[in-house]
Amino acid sequence: MAVYFATGNKNKFIEMKSYLKDIDVRHYEFRHKEIRSDSIEEIAREAVDAAYSEVKKPVFVEDTGLFIESLNGFPGTYSGWVYEKIGAEGLVRLMRGEKNRSAVFKTCIAYRSGKKVLTFSGECRGSISEKILGKAGFGYDPVFIPEGHVQSFAQSINLKNKLSHRYKTSEKFRRYLLKSEAI
Ligand code: IMP
Repeated sequence: MAVYFATGNKNKFIEMKSYLKDIDVRHYEFRHKEIRSDSIEEIAREAVDAAYSEVKKPVFVEDTGLFIESLNGFPGTYSGWVYEKIGAEGLVRLMRGEKNRSAVFKTCIAYRSGKKVLTFSGECRGSISEKILGKAGFGYDPVFIPEGHVQSFAQSINLKNKLSHRYKTSEKFRRYLLKSEAI
């Protein structure tokens, strides 16, 4: 059975499709105004309800935020808005002179196939680079260096595909789908 990924972000769809390789994942073009909340899970839960009321078939959404320790978790759930305003370069400017560059990407997938919403979460710890590094990927990939590595996600997509927040979260979701009777 097919599951629909409701998103307006093609890059997310491409990544997700490669991670959920043995699942029949279809794209549902979804434009939705997110609620304001400090919790990516709360945002994902609200969004999947909205998506389900449109698709009326098993559907999931995914919400991601970049939480920077020295900025008290900013941009967090506002990562999309901040990216539109100042981009990854703007984040590097904001962090100029800051020694503590620790950050974490957090992802939540919310899935609904009937009345109940299920959520799956994952994260990837790392640090914010001092300049733009690499061209691959999307969003904040050129400024995020995963823990224990020297290259940014944008310099090594292989690295991203092995240990990213989205990869870890989609693995939990994939295992659930493969076990559940629906698929
Ligand atoms: P949202 O989940 O679409 O709200 O994403 C929030 C922001 O984080 C957007 O600007 C995305 O481009 C960015 N973002 C989401 N996922 C990733 C990722 O895997 N790498 C880098 N940036 C990301």
